[in-house]
This record gives sequence, structure tokens and C-alpha cells, in this order.
Amino acid sequence: MGVLLETHGLVKAFGGFHAVDNVDLVVNDGEIRSVIGPNGAGKTTLFNVVTGHLRPTHGHVRFAGEDITGKSPHTVTRHGLARAFQITNVFPRMTVLESVQCAVLARRRRTSDFVTWYHRSARDAAMEVIEAVGLVEVAEQEARTLSHGDQRALEVALALATGPRLLLLDEPTAGMSPWETERTVELVRDLARARGLTVLFCEHDMNVVFAISDRITVMHQGRVIAEGVPEEVRQNEEVVRVYLGDQV
Ligand SMILES: Nc1ncnc2c1ncn2[C@@H]1O[C@H](COP(=O)(O)OP(=O)(O)OP(=O)(O)O)[C@@H](O)[C@H]1O
Ligand SMILES: [Mg+2]
Repeated sequence: MGVLLETHGLVKAFGGFHAVDNVDLVVNDGEIRSVIGPNGAGKTTLFNVVTGHLRPTHGHVRFAGEDITGKSPHTVTRHGLARAFQITNVFPRMTVLESVQCAVLARRRRTSDFVTWYHRSARDAAMEVIEAVGLVEVAEQEARTLSHGDQRALEVALALATGPRLLLLDEPTAGMSPWETERTVELVRDLARARGLTVLFCEHDMNVVFAISDRITVMHQGRVIAEGVPEEVRQNEEVVRVYLGDQV
């Protein structure tokens, strides 16, 4: 397994405060990696730097062998790193199929004059993604009418429509019912196992984290304080002290 994503000496400072403090992260191709840690540990800031939404103060980000440090989110997406955002409210009156089709088309260049062929193939590509996230039954429904769980699945679909190698999720099960959480766990597992997708996510639900992570990175005050397979992290005394406490 090769390295897909790598940060080296990554720092993000806000004034004198280091929200991300010298983080070296190595994510292998095909793995499911979670990042955990207390509120304010720097998880979202780390993601924002990786996806180009924030410029790092120091350090580098490499993806699929290329230096993507400081590149725009759009460029980072084109390299194959996609992030699911809470954006289903942007076009609430579009159907699921229309939204995903737009995302598919947005990634393609207009190289074909065969407009009909072009749109049909975009439709097929969109339907494949919709099937992968389990939204076939609601494909013709407007986004605004979907349940919370289905809206989050649509956000994942919109990210998948860009054809990523790595999918980045910030608290994918936040606000979900137990049933929706279970479905998300299965979805992430399927995407990684069946499609060879690499997944990087942060999450506060430790049942989810320990159920699907190949490896876990633990952050505290901007730094990585531990990393390993679930059993190693569960038994790490510092991790238990600063975060897990009596959760496990
Ligand atoms: N734009 C900003 N300006 C100043 N400080 C910021 C900014 N963004 C984040 N911070 C600070 O950086 C620290 C890390 O925040 P971050 O959102 O990355 O934490 P997190 O690990 O994602 O927490 P949570 O689990 O609550 O989502 C916090 O102390 C936060 O207040
Ligand atoms: Mg966060």
C-alpha cells in the first residue's frame, strides 16, 4: 500500500495560537483513517488546510505524490481529494439526480459536441453514485424534502461525483439517529472496500470510530499525541486521560 496523503510539519497559526501544531500525517491508499480528539483539538483546521480552504503557516501537504500545499480547494478537488460539505441547502429545489448530475458535469471539461450523449452519460454516472450511497428511491425528490440522513448521504454523493481517490468527512454522523449512523458506517465501509476509496474523517462517536477505522490519529491542542490501530489507541494512557476518559 502506497502513501496517498502526507502532511509534513504542518502548522496553522491564528495570531500567536497554533491550532495545528507541527502535524505529520501519513494516510495510505485504501485505508479508513479517523482523527479524534477533544473539541478545539485542531481536527477541522487540519482538514481545512489539507483541502486548501486555509493556507498553512508552515509545512507541506502532498497528495498522490504531488505537492498541493496552498492550492485552491478547486484545484485540490481536481487532484482527487473531495470533501463532503453541508451544502444540500444550496439548491433545495433541485432533485437528488439533478444535483449529482451537476456535480458530475462540473468536473468534466466540455470536450464533446455530442450534447445528448454527454448528458446521458452524466446521468448514468450520477445514477451510479446515487446507487452507491443508497438514494435510488429518492432520486427524483427535491433535496429539501429529504430526511437528515438522506441529505448527508447526498452530500457524500456530491463529493463522490467528482471522482475522488480520497474522501474527507468532518463528523459524518453528527446529529444522526442511531439508524442513520449505522447506515453511514456501512456506507463508508462499502465505499472503502468495494471502490478502493481512501477515507479520512473526524468523529466524536467512538462506536463509529472503533468500528470502521483501520488506524486512528489522536489530536490534542493542535498536536498528534497518538496514532495506531484501534486497540493501541484504546489502551494508550494519555489518550484515555485527555479524551476517551470513561467512554471506553
Ligand atoms: N478562523 C479561526 N480564527 C481563530 N481561531 C480559530 C479559527 N478556527 C479555529 N480556531 C481555533 O482553533 C482551535 C481548533 O479548532 P478546530 O475547529 O480545528 O477544532 P476541532 O478539533 O475541529 O474541534 P471540534 O471537535 O469542536 O469540531 C480552536 O481553539 C478554535 O477556537
Ligand atoms: Mg471540528
